Amino acid sequence: MILAALWELLCLVTVAKASITVHGQIPIRQTQAPTATAQDTSFTALAAYNDRVLRPPPIPSPPPANMFTVQLQREAANVQGLSMAHVGGAFFGFSLEMSVVNQVLGKNSSLIQVPFLNLMANLQERAGGVLIRMGGNTQEHATHVDFIDHGNAISKAQALLDQTTRTPAVIYTDDLFYIAANISSLVNVKWFLGIPFNDTANWRLAIAERGQTILGDNLLGLQAGNEPDLYLNNGHRQGTYTPYDYHNEVRNLIATMDDNPNIPNNYMLVGPSIEGLWQPQMLNNNYPSNNCFAQFGVGAARDPQEEFPNYLNHNAGINLIAEYLDSTRVAQQAGKPFIMFETNTASCGGFPGLSDSYGAALWAIDYGLQMAYSNFTHALLHVGGLNVYYNPFTAPPTNQSTYNEWTIGAIYYSTLVMAEILGKSNTSQVVDLASNYGNIFTPAYAIYEHGTLSKVALFNYVDDSTPASNLLVSLSVPGGGVPASVKVKYLAADSVSLKNITWAGQTFGGKYEVDGRLKGDLNIVNINCDMGRNVCQIPVAAPGFALVFFGDSETLNIGQSPVTFATTAYTKTMNTVTVDQDILATSNGHSEKDRSQMGSTSKGSNSGAQGLNTFVPVIFVLFSIAIGGVMVFLS
Ligand SMILES: *[C@@H]1O[C@H](CO)[C@@H](O)[C@H](O)[C@H]1NC(C)=O
Ligand SMILES: *[C@@H]1O[C@H](CO)[C@@H](O)[C@H](O)[C@H]1NC(C)=O
Ligand SMILES: *[C@@H]1O[C@H](CO)[C@@H](O)[C@H](O)[C@H]1NC(C)=O
Ligand SMILES: *[C@@H]1O[C@H](CO)[C@@H](O)[C@H](O)[C@H]1NC(C)=O
Ligand SMILES: *[C@@H]1O[C@H](CO)[C@@H](O)[C@H](O)[C@H]1NC(C)=O
Ligand SMILES: *[C@@H]1O[C@H](CO)[C@@H](O)[C@H](O)[C@H]1NC(C)=O
Ligand SMILES: *[C@@H]1O[C@H](CO)[C@@H](O)[C@H](O)[C@H]1NC(C)=O
Repeated sequence: MILAALWELLCLVTVAKASITVHGQIPIRQTQAPTATAQDTSFTALAAYNDRVLRPPPIPSPPPANMFTVQLQREAANVQGLSMAHVGGAFFGFSLEMSVVNQVLGKNSSLIQVPFLNLMANLQERAGGVLIRMGGNTQEHATHVDFIDHGNAISKAQALLDQTTRTPAVIYTDDLFYIAANISSLVNVKWFLGIPFNDTANWRLAIAERGQTILGDNLLGLQAGNEPDLYLNNGHRQGTYTPYDYHNEVRNLIATMDDNPNIPNNYMLVGPSIEGLWQPQMLNNNYPSNNCFAQFGVGAARDPQEEFPNYLNHNAGINLIAEYLDSTRVAQQAGKPFIMFETNTASCGGFPGLSDSYGAALWAIDYGLQMAYSNFTHALLHVGGLNVYYNPFTAPPTNQSTYNEWTIGAIYYSTLVMAEILGKSNTSQVVDLASNYGNIFTPAYAIYEHGTLSKVALFNYVDDSTPASNLLVSLSVPGGGVPASVKVKYLAADSVSLKNITWAGQTFGGKYEVDGRLKGDLNIVNINCDMGRNVCQIPVAAPGFALVFFGDSETLNIGQSPVTFATTAYTKTMNTVTVDQDILATSNGHSEKDRSQMGSTSKGSNSGAQGLNTFVPVIFVLFSIAIGGVMVFLS
């Protein structure tokens, strides 16, 4: 708390000219050579393709009432606690570790991944655009070079091995930015990049110089360092390193950028994802979980089967963000966006059978709506390599690229549904309806657009193979009255455990079948309402999710985006991955070895002690920063 107060004094002295508030949730860490964990079967078996199916949790006891009424207001003005109006672009975006860029986006600017473009086009069709952050742990040592062999935009450089993390540094050419620029010219993707902070005496600002020059308005912000509060523990800094030191480094960065004629715009620094070390109260955080033991032998073993029920109720999202409510308020007052910079089901790659399940899709939509209700402006879902379970989408392994296509994860369906829920009017407001007397298994939200009731989102987390737990939700609009009929789109699967999901009857296809386009017929269900009794009765399966449209919404009739990118021209060549699997395995935002070091080794030292034990879970502190001063939002 004292530190927090000092921070505030230190930082709030100047007014931020332009800033974006961020915080992340999934640690991006590693301290050990990948080989030490390479024998882990989760790597060789390619987690992204795991087939594990968990047992659905039992029906809650007592079960939620399966018929209940939700009283809605027609006018937003009459709704208490409604969120602020949502800003442009999709609420959910993606966080992409630099080392997987070539795998996911493309080898170089002339070989962009077509399935990726189609997936972005589908989000754009609904939400108008997509935010993507390229960065993370691997941004710290990333180094710009003029040329890389074989037409690659990005590669690793063993010679630049980081002595602390033993990570080969990522090297990249201008073509990295051309990849991004080319993507932005085809679909409305806006980018965040990260400035390397490993060497603040010799700033490497190519990412600002070249990134701004090449990306122009498509670059939204530059992240100033990644998790500086862990620098000491990671041996990235020696002696002491406090918020003051970081602040001074940022001041130095700002001055250096100011003096650099090659940086067109100095007003786009973004505060880093900072972990809890500088924020005592942040250590008691509630992020969903981690799978570090299974992936890296760190921390306590966690059984996905036991974790599963924790995701399948409304409290999961509420608890996760409870401590940020003050911060979103401060950010809103300051007129700043407030972005969850990196999140997903669990750190260290997520859980097999859980992170790719229909249950996870329900969890992410509920969590996203809860964040929107709580005045977050965006949340970026993490995308890793082949060794993680939670990917929204996964490009095929290098040597399968000619015969297998992409694989979609449950989380991508959540981003699609969320895009549809909030739409592109920039006026959507969300309220948690605390439906069914607040039963945590049957949450509901109302969405207002242009100040009027637009949609209702209904969840049923209960998994029941009999019809006994199906819901029949009565929606009623006192005063205004219900319309003659409503349209409903369902996100459906037979069980929370399954991976084959449909949205309004359409699917992207199974493992290796995805080209980024929805397949099948769009199925929009018409439900007649009883205007006399002022009620629309909406069935929701157990498990199930229903999006109820009141009146015309521009997202109602959207299925597959009319904008698609043909795969034929590219499929044979485009999937060539050049950053090797070892790097992908440990540098895409899921290794948490540094966490363990916090608990197990003296600060600033990294004596090679790999007997890592205590896993210290932490959440990044959010804050934003701008030229001429720092603005910190502390909770
Ligand atoms: C929504 O906001 C974005 C920028 O935040 C803007 O580009 C877009 O035009 C806005 N859409 C509408 C309908 O105002
Ligand atoms: C991309 O890679 C291909 C194949 O290696 C190469 O032919 C092409 O010249 C490269 N493009 C760029 C912009 O480097
Ligand atoms: C893609 O990038 C290359 C540079 O490698 C550029 O020549 C080309 O015009 C770009 N294409 C588009 C569509 O922007
Ligand atoms: C920072 O990283 C770069 C690239 O890996 C390396 O060349 C440089 O020596 C590093 N600086 C420090 C102080 O570690
Ligand atoms: C979100 O912002 C709105 C508008 O300022 C406010 O009324 C509401 O209380 C906020 N919600 C939360 C959870 O802080
Ligand atoms: C693909 O690469 C993996 C790992 O390098 C290897 O085990 C596998 O046999 C390869 N598959 C094919 C079809 O070449
Ligand atoms: C989903 O997959 C399960 C298990 O593979 C299968 O039994 C079920 O029929 C599938 N459901 C749909 C709707 O395709």
